[in-house]
Amino acid sequence: MQFSCCHDTHSIVSFVVLVSLLFTPIISSKDFREKNGTSIAGNKSKNMKLINAQLRKINKPFVKSIKSPDDDIIDCVLFHLQPAFDLPELREKISLIQVPELPKTHAKAGTNSEIKQLWHSKGESCPNGTIPIKRTTASDISIFKSAKKYSRKNLVSANYEHATGYVQGEFHGANAELNVWKPYISSNDFSRSQIWVLSYVGANLANSVEAGWEVYKDSRPRLFIFWTADGYQSGCYNLVCSGFVQTTQKFSLGSAIDPVSTYNGVQCHVAFMIWKDPKSGDWWLKVGTEVIGYWPKSLFTSLQGNATTIEYGGEVYSHDLADNHTTTQMGSGHFPDEDFKKAAFIRKLAVIDQHNELKPVSNLNLFAPRPNCYDVRKGRGNPDIWGDYIFFGGPGYNPNCL
Ligand SMILES: *[C@@H]1O[C@H](CO)[C@@H](O)[C@H](O)[C@H]1NC(C)=O
Ligand SMILES: *[C@@H]1O[C@H](CO)[C@@H](O)[C@H](O)[C@H]1NC(C)=O
Ligand SMILES: *[C@@H]1O[C@H](CO)[C@@H](O)[C@H](O)[C@H]1NC(C)=O
Ligand SMILES: *[C@@H]1O[C@H](CO)[C@@H](O)[C@H](O)[C@H]1NC(C)=O
Repeated sequence: MQFSCCHDTHSIVSFVVLVSLLFTPIISSKDFREKNGTSIAGNKSKNMKLINAQLRKINKPFVKSIKSPDDDIIDCVLFHLQPAFDLPELREKISLIQVPELPKTHAKAGTNSEIKQLWHSKGESCPNGTIPIKRTTASDISIFKSAKKYSRKNLVSANYEHATGYVQGEFHGANAELNVWKPYISSNDFSRSQIWVLSYVGANLANSVEAGWEVYKDSRPRLFIFWTADGYQSGCYNLVCSGFVQTTQKFSLGSAIDPVSTYNGVQCHVAFMIWKDPKSGDWWLKVGTEVIGYWPKSLFTSLQGNATTIEYGGEVYSHDLADNHTTTQMGSGHFPDEDFKKAAFIRKLAVIDQHNELKPVSNLNLFAPRPNCYDVRKGRGNPDIWGDYIFFGGPGYNPNCL
């Protein structure tokens, strides 16, 4: 028996680029900064000056702003003023953005769950011609800065742990359904459930595009994306720097997903698809029924061609694994052997090939170097509901994981 607490709607690609509201009065976010902690008044420390300068660059003028029940601020920013278009080479192409070609699938046309976010739970929405952007705060910047990402194979840092399934080959994308949980997070840790689309050159990770949900600071799962073009030396979350072009008017990167799954209760899941549009070569993202936006091809080096690894699963980042193991949970916080309704899953694991066709994974490998802390197992079920799947996660610190 399947439960879903999300709306089931048939997949409709709604994609409109509107440049109509050009003459709408724009409110500067300046007045709001100090009130909302996105600027620290009177702090002359060098670090804070840098952060304030960065915030002024990232947080764009808006036509409307919405306060989410979790106190996040969502700014409705005119489409053409979003961070990506700070890059001149992208700004030149605004008028050329086209609807991407969705991958072909031979699977039975199913239903797809729409993701729901907390900020529009009271019916608030952004006006046509704008996109919702979570306002970045000073604490967001310091947290993201200290939590650099690494790939599995570049794992020189002891700060990362993974429990994943992966396939290797030549791919143009990935698709899977992730269920969403609210794991416990210790202090400044991160816990993620995600899809990685990776491109290795030889043994080295060169480029990645990633999407899923993550929990940090306040224990709410948030929609997130990430990309790097230089093997994780630098990289970018959400719209916190220029790169990703958001096209949806409905969803906000970095904002909380709600409702979420409950242990032995209702399960909430959402599909994530990342694929390379055959016409433009840009990498697009669809979450649930909604096309969210794209990473322009020009951001990348090796991802101008194929992805070479697709990975699905969990990642925990901890600032401090030196003493006891962190108590930060992965997935639901329960081990995969607890199974459906208790452990986190990612199911209908699929890849997209060079012909823009969606195919179930084959030869899925598993990776869980510390299975007593976080583990993964795989299986195969009814192709319409489960297909190839993994269960993964764990509690972190316990008598077998110190
Ligand atoms: C200013 O920022 C520094 C560095 O982040 C911090 O240690 C200090 O407490 C801050 N001072 C005030 C008055 O907020
Ligand atoms: C916004 O756009 C949608 C779709 O084009 C349209 O149905 C709706 O009426 C528009 N709303 C406003 C307020 O213009
Ligand atoms: C991508 O993979 C396909 C299939 O293996 C191959 O024919 C093609 O040359 C690859 N493209 C690039 C740019 O490496
Ligand atoms: C590690 O955990 C043990 C048992 O829970 C506890 O007694 C000890 O104080 C912890 N050590 C540190 C450094 O937190």
